[in-house]
Amino acid sequence: MESLEFNKIAASVLVAVLIVVGVDKLGGILYHADSPDEMSYIVEIDEPSGTVVDDTAPVMSFDQLLAVALPEGGETVARKCTACHTFEMGGAEKQGPNLWNIVGADVAAVPGYDYSSALVDLGGVWSYDRLSDFLAAPRSYAPGTKMTFAGISDDADRADLIAWMRTLSDDPLPLPEVVMEVGGAETEGDVTGTLEDVSDDASDAAGDAMDAASDAADDAMDAASDAADDAMDAASDAADAVGDAADDASDAIEDATDGDNN
Ligand code: HEC
Repeated sequence: MESLEFNKIAASVLVAVLIVVGVDKLGGILYHADSPDEMSYIVEIDEPSGTVVDDTAPVMSFDQLLAVALPEGGETVARKCTACHTFEMGGAEKQGPNLWNIVGADVAAVPGYDYSSALVDLGGVWSYDRLSDFLAAPRSYAPGTKMTFAGISDDADRADLIAWMRTLSDDPLPLPEVVMEVGGAETEGDVTGTLEDVSDDASDAAGDAMDAASDAADDAMDAASDAADDAMDAASDAADAVGDAADDASDAIEDATDGDNN
């Protein structure tokens, strides 16, 4: 009897060892993953060909400044004028004439105002360019004018001011067409359109990058699922091996028991 007990215990230990070793191997097969040598996601993006900021390009022309001017800012700049001018329709004459609807109007033509000959001699109409030149330095543009005002030297402030003044009309003068240089090619149209082109280029490039990234992700998923299939096959082989070993062990137990009985 003692020998039978010993054989049973020995067989149990053998099975236990086989199972432990088998599970460990199985785990190793199932959970081991090689770390990649290289980053899988290297996404190359072409630089968009159109550039908005170019240090070598000349600063914006006055027409271009006008196209991006802020009329609300111009109303603030106009506080420098209100000591001598009213801007509302039918506003009173002060030291200078009322300025309602002045953009695009005839020079020195507000009814009843007594202009200097310097201003009358200018003739023509207040185009955007002439108004800008006059307001930059009134006494240089029209020597002898009664408008004793130093002028507004900042181009952007002057553009904002004139953009606001043009709105003071029943029929505002259209803004000048602007020509912008973008990526070496001359593009005609308004500035907004040009910026849209550049942003289209950028969004195309972003789309390409997204496509490339999603292709790479698909490849990685395929590779991972192949590896998982391989691991499952190996695991099931290992499980078969453990099963065989268990059968062998139980045969051994039977043999041992038989041997004892004999
Ligand atoms: C110190 C007073 C004074 C200030 C400040 C002043 N102006 Fe004048 N402005 C005049 C006078 C006076 C005239 C008439 C000039 C003349 O007859 O020679 C005039 C004429 C003008 C004209 C021509 C009007 C026409 O009918 O052709 C414009 C445009 C104008 N001013 C715009 C402005 C703007 C815009 C500002 C503010 C940025 C401004 N002025 C500030 C006194 C002033």
